[in-house]
Amino acid sequence: MRTLLTVKSHFSAAHRLYRPEWSLARNREIFGLCSNLNGHGHNYLLEVTVEGPVDPETGMIIDMKELKALIEREIIERVDHKNLNMDVPFLEGVIPTAENLAVAFWEVLDPKISAGRLYEIRLQETDRNTAIVRR
Ligand code: NI
Repeated sequence: MRTLLTVKSHFSAAHRLYRPEWSLARNREIFGLCSNLNGHGHNYLLEVTVEGPVDPETGMIIDMKELKALIEREIIERVDHKNLNMDVPFLEGVIPTAENLAVAFWEVLDPKISAGRLYEIRLQETDRNTAIVRR
């Protein structure tokens, strides 16, 4: 048996998916509407799951207040209402697909989880697509 705890957060951000060395036509072919020249926005749902033993004294894997504060400080405050191509130092040089964002968020959060360990990050970009990174 394993025990998991998931917390959800929301943020809104703009992005454009493109490779600068490709033509507009090639970018459009690979990235579709997400390559539109002036960007567009998404309302993201971020779900962070921690696994670990339940502390018998508290009944918790990790203090949820602390986990929420960590996600807020390390991720949400840095990406919410930002342009993901331009405004976020830890995303510099990253094509901001849902997959790449989930991996980048994992790298930021993984070393900072204070109890249990990071198990999964799910990033829902639209109600039709979600990227998942799992240990
Ligand atoms: Ni998009």
